Amino acid sequence: MPEYVLGHHLKGEGTRLALMSQLLDPMHRRYIDALNVVRPGAQTLEVGCGNGSISAWLAERVDPGGRAVAFDLDLSLIKVRAPNLELRQGDIVAGAVEPGTFDLVTARAVLHHVADAEAAMRNLVASLRPGGALLLIEPDFLPVSVAEPAEVRAFWGGWVAWSRERGIDYHIGRALAPRLAAIGLTEIGGAAETAIYNGASPWADYWTQTITELRDGLLSSGKLNNALVDTFRACCADSNWWTQTIACTAVHGWNPGV
Ligand SMILES: C[S@@+](CC[C@H](N)C(=O)[O-])C[C@H]1O[C@@H](n2cnc3c(N)ncnc32)[C@H](O)[C@@H]1O
Repeated sequence: MPEYVLGHHLKGEGTRLALMSQLLDPMHRRYIDALNVVRPGAQTLEVGCGNGSISAWLAERVDPGGRAVAFDLDLSLIKVRAPNLELRQGDIVAGAVEPGTFDLVTARAVLHHVADAEAAMRNLVASLRPGGALLLIEPDFLPVSVAEPAEVRAFWGGWVAWSRERGIDYHIGRALAPRLAAIGLTEIGGAAETAIYNGASPWADYWTQTITELRDGLLSSGKLNNALVDTFRACCADSNWWTQTIACTAVHGWNPGV
């Protein structure tokens, strides 16, 4: 199994994924709805489904007659079940899932963790039926370059340097559209949106939990020190501190051939 830095065995990963669902599912559902392909009878594939919240929603939307496949390296944190929800364990870098089958293929917050993102994207596209739609949502950490105060900017500088060393690409958002064009998708479009949040909010809690899980690795990498981590955590607890972090970059395209 490829190494994934926020493995599902980590204490608190279930809670962290639940927070991701709370923070990101409304946006993800809105972008899926805009594609107008998810209807009764449709077949959908979500890759890197985490706790399966989007796949469970898709299963409801394609019923009756349709099928939602939830695919991940690790299915252990999926508690949802439905007769037309299929759980499938696998690595998207290794190959397509039922080539040429799905009306919608989507992946959120997955490709930035994948060492060979190009191979993963080719396999996502190969899973589409002709005329099917691909929707990717990935981070672009552009907003952290203007974060305040300077210590928080320094924290993010260390974070990005650590992530690069670990093969994580927190600037992949900007690369999605050209890569999909190179693979041959058509009518590519997208948008990026960023949450503006303060300390003690769900977004701040998300970062506090993430940093708690990764603290030892962040410090031993030498890219961050205790003082920067503690300053960032203090900001995340201060409701008077306002900031933004991720440009959540949603890009879609269509598989030609119908
Ligand atoms: C950051 S989590 C995001 C989960 C969910 N998509 C969300 O946004 O809430 C990344 C997920 O991708 C899965 N993943 C990472 N690399 C993968 C790969 N090569 N193939 C399939 N799933 C992968 C992880 O196991 C994890 O569940």
